[in-house]
Amino acid sequence: MPPDRIAGFAKSSLRQWRVNGFGPWAAVEKATGCWIGRLGLDELDDWPEADKIEVGFELHKAWWGQGLATEGAVAALDFGFEQHGLERIISVTAAAHTAARRVMEKAGLTYRGTRYWMNPEVPVVWYAIDRVAWKARKRRDLS
Ligand SMILES: CC(C)(COP(=O)(O)OP(=O)(O)OC[C@H]1O[C@@H](n2cnc3c(N)ncnc32)[C@H](O)[C@@H]1OP(=O)(O)O)[C@@H](O)C(=O)NCCC(=O)NCCS
Repeated sequence: MPPDRIAGFAKSSLRQWRVNGFGPWAAVEKATGCWIGRLGLDELDDWPEADKIEVGFELHKAWWGQGLATEGAVAALDFGFEQHGLERIISVTAAAHTAARRVMEKAGLTYRGTRYWMNPEVPVVWYAIDRVAWKARKRRDLS
């Protein structure tokens, strides 16, 4: 990514932590302490639907395919619902991005629609999970 885009992400992340009390996390591999990417809750200011808090995930390629994005997404959902009282968390990706869609499904989000956003040539899909569904899933997983 170009440096100004990276600076924009950093600025937005810090603002979210300051204003909302939550925001994107650094993803750190437990075994090594290595910084491997960015994931967690992220406010999509200009997302056109009503709910704008997303769970997102971006990992360095060397760590793909180990279930880490799903692990991080599940932790972020728990953080958002249990500690910040959110009612709905969404996730948005390019319609063709099968891996991201799979992570959303494995974390318990369900498909809500397809639309255009930012790029008029790339359809995006959005998924969501509501607090009630999250609680039910958590109860089921714990039983
Ligand atoms: C998308 C991304 C976060 C996934 O991270 P990850 O840690 O590999 O994800 P997980 O291992 O938790 O799960 C990936 C799932 O997608 C599946 N998958 C991966 N590539 C796939 C493909 N090309 N087609 C179909 N399924 C695919 C995996 O098999 C796995 O599903 P499974 O557990 O049922 O087998 C990672 O590829 C990434 O960081 N990409 C670059 C940034 C990005 O695109 N982020 C998403 C922006 S919306």
